[in-house]
Amino acid sequence: MSTLIRSSGLLATLVSCASSVHALDYLVVGGGTGGLAIANRLTENPNTSVLVLEAGGDGLGNANISSLALVGAAWGTDIDWQFPTEPLPNGVSIGKVPRGKVLGGSSAINGAVFSRGDRRDYQLWEAAGNPGWNANNILAASFKSEHFYPPPANWSIEYVTSDHGNSGPVATSFGNPAPPIQQDMINSVVNYGGKQSPDLAGGHVDGMAWVTHARLPSNQTRATSATAYYFPYSYRPNFKVSLYSQATRIIWKSTANGNAVAAGVEYVDQSGATHVVNASTVILSAGVWGSPPILERSGVGNKTLLASLGINSVVDLPGLGENMVEQPIVPMLYALNTTLPLNSVSPLLLNLESLQETFAKGGDLAKLQSLFVKPANMPDAIFNMYKTLYSEGAAWFEGYTLPVIQAGQPTIIAWYSGLGRPLSTGSVHINSTDGLAYPAIQYNWWTSPFDVYATAVAAQRIQNFTSTPPFSDWIAARIAPPASVVSIDDFSAYVQAAGTQGNHPIGSAAMLPRADGGVVDPNLKVYGTANVYIIDASVIPAQPSGHPQAHVYAFAERAAQLFAASY
Ligand SMILES: Cc1cc2nc3c(=O)[nH]c(=O)nc-3n(C[C@H](O)[C@H](O)[C@H](O)COP(=O)(O)OP(=O)(O)OC[C@H]3O[C@@H](n4cnc5c(N)ncnc54)[C@H](O)[C@@H]3O)c2cc1C
Ligand SMILES: *[C@@H]1O[C@H](CO)[C@@H](O)[C@H](O)[C@H]1NC(C)=O
Ligand SMILES: *[C@@H]1O[C@H](CO)[C@@H](O)[C@H](O)[C@H]1NC(C)=O
Ligand SMILES: *[C@@H]1O[C@H](CO)[C@@H](O)[C@H](O)[C@H]1NC(C)=O
Ligand SMILES: *[C@@H]1O[C@H](CO)[C@@H](O)[C@H](O)[C@H]1NC(C)=O
Ligand SMILES: *[C@@H]1O[C@H](CO)[C@@H](O)[C@H](O)[C@H]1NC(C)=O
Ligand SMILES: *[C@@H]1O[C@H](CO)[C@@H](O)[C@H](O)[C@H]1NC(C)=O
Ligand SMILES: *[C@@H]1O[C@H](CO)[C@@H](O)[C@H](O)[C@H]1NC(C)=O
Ligand SMILES: *[C@@H]1O[C@H](CO)[C@@H](O)[C@H](O)[C@H]1NC(C)=O
Ligand SMILES: *[C@@H]1O[C@H](CO)[C@@H](O)[C@H](O)[C@H]1NC(C)=O
Repeated sequence: MSTLIRSSGLLATLVSCASSVHALDYLVVGGGTGGLAIANRLTENPNTSVLVLEAGGDGLGNANISSLALVGAAWGTDIDWQFPTEPLPNGVSIGKVPRGKVLGGSSAINGAVFSRGDRRDYQLWEAAGNPGWNANNILAASFKSEHFYPPPANWSIEYVTSDHGNSGPVATSFGNPAPPIQQDMINSVVNYGGKQSPDLAGGHVDGMAWVTHARLPSNQTRATSATAYYFPYSYRPNFKVSLYSQATRIIWKSTANGNAVAAGVEYVDQSGATHVVNASTVILSAGVWGSPPILERSGVGNKTLLASLGINSVVDLPGLGENMVEQPIVPMLYALNTTLPLNSVSPLLLNLESLQETFAKGGDLAKLQSLFVKPANMPDAIFNMYKTLYSEGAAWFEGYTLPVIQAGQPTIIAWYSGLGRPLSTGSVHINSTDGLAYPAIQYNWWTSPFDVYATAVAAQRIQNFTSTPPFSDWIAARIAPPASVVSIDDFSAYVQAAGTQGNHPIGSAAMLPRADGGVVDPNLKVYGTANVYIIDASVIPAQPSGHPQAHVYAFAERAAQLFAASY
């Protein structure tokens, strides 16, 4: 691993020596999901030099990363940032939430579900003022990241080969199925008026289907952005990574055509020493809660908020740190009458459906419609997308199910259910000028009555699915919510108390027009700057009908094409 530099005071010297011959082209802040993907594509050109600053280590040899059977073990360990969250407005405390602090970032510690959104999501992103970010281009960029391994024929898993990429770096595959229980679950959903979908990965998201994980089928290990985009390419002399290097702020050098020009980035190494690295272009890939604080400390963001911390404004961008939407999910747990074998990696089924479908057998759709009101802090541009998607009956509610298998215990089937697109809109902002301090994260869940009502009806629908044969025959007991939770009012109270993080925050530096609260333009360049870009989950403008990681890879793949075109 010769190009892996353990951070020391020497790094700045190394880079500045090199820069007398050839200045560093790109400095990528954050060696996570988006950061390593963009760094990989940029370094395909041997004339392009890239240095990645990563706050964590390399994670090599850590089974909590490589083994998907150990999902969750890494949370709370030193490869997890353990971000504190502010109490919800209703007083419930969610406490510390996970994000990867290691090469690979959150792709190294997440649930590994690899799923894409619906074509309609992406068409609306383009229509909102992002030329080129349409369904064809985003799906093509996403396929470019994926290498799909079809399941063995006797697994009887339905999928569509052409809905997947087959030559990208990120391995995707299905888990060992647990027949017949899981087929019975699909049948119960269908028997209760739901749909089965052949595949959710090709831009048509509607119904229940098996979903892939980012996983190598040969040895069942997790595919992270580090195993996919960095380790096999670490021999490239132009692809350097500096570990244990936490960036604190951007250093500006001048103004060109009214835009602030970055000279480089200040970072702190493991010993606490501060250094500066200069580069022609700075790419922030520090994540949805990592990138906005770096900009705020550098004078970019809400001018009034920064003034209150004594930070001089460089670019007034009031949308930065706003529009952060995280999905609350509600656990619904059922003990089976039987014990599934321990030896398999959890298989998983994903159920997505429109609210109209969710309300088909219960709940008051007219009431839901009356609650569909834009929260004061949600930009019109985002609400208007949601309005269109709602009227078109796009997938809104999602549930994913997996068996929880503990040795010697009856298997529990967990349904984690929630709204794919909550209206309640949160924020992330620094509350101190300390470069190493955590930002204040506010989810703002349940501030929209629409979210409460829709989630309660969706949870009751799950209860109804699971009480429908043939799956109901496998259930020995409902573990959560307690048996006393029956009516919609009961479910409303339950979801607000038990709703927990879906780990899918996006949007804190949205790609939208500046007047609409946007932070980056369709080239992913930060407004008001000449050479600062963001490539991570912060720029995803609105929650799509699928999970975020494939979207982060797609943003990096498309950004690479845009950079190449601008050469
Ligand atoms: C527990 C969990 C479960 C999830 N499950 C799924 C799932 O099953 N499917 C799915 O699609 N998505 C899932 N997600 C979400 C998905 O993993 C993320 O949306 C995605 O990985 C985010 O990519 P990113 O590039 O924005 O950030 P990250 O991958 O988190 O990368 C940010 C990187 O920047 C580094 N960094 C941060 N600040 C600094 C700094 N100041 N200086 C230097 N480096 C810094 C971090 O250490 C990290 O390596 C899950 C997330 C979590 C946490
Ligand atoms: C790299 O630079 C060399 C020397 O300037 C040039 O000959 C070569 O074509 C360049 N390669 C690429 C891929 O741009
Ligand atoms: C793996 O996770 C377990 C459980 O959280 C923890 O005790 C252990 O230290 C972790 N291993 C590493 C290498 O971090
Ligand atoms: C599929 O076939 C393999 C090899 O014969 C066998 O080990 C496995 O149990 C079968 N799987 C299923 C789901 O039937
Ligand atoms: C799994 O297989 C991949 C690809 O062959 C290999 O690079 C990796 O080291 C293997 N991991 C383990 C833990 O065996
Ligand atoms: C980095 O850029 C700053 C601002 O332009 C400059 O003062 C400094 O000398 C540069 N450092 C190096 C090592 O080039
Ligand atoms: C900017 O910050 C001020 C002070 O915190 C706040 O009152 C205002 O609402 C913020 N603006 C936006 C658009 O969030
Ligand atoms: C669930 O079933 C109950 C009892 O039949 C019914 O009253 C309720 O409306 C159903 N809810 C949903 C969301 O289907
Ligand atoms: C700032 O936010 C952090 C993280 O939520 C929190 O621990 C701290 O108490 C907050 N400080 C102030 C002054 O609000
Ligand atoms: C559990 O229920 C299923 C479905 O009714 C049945 O086929 C199976 O035999 C039961 N298993 C046990 C161990 O009772």
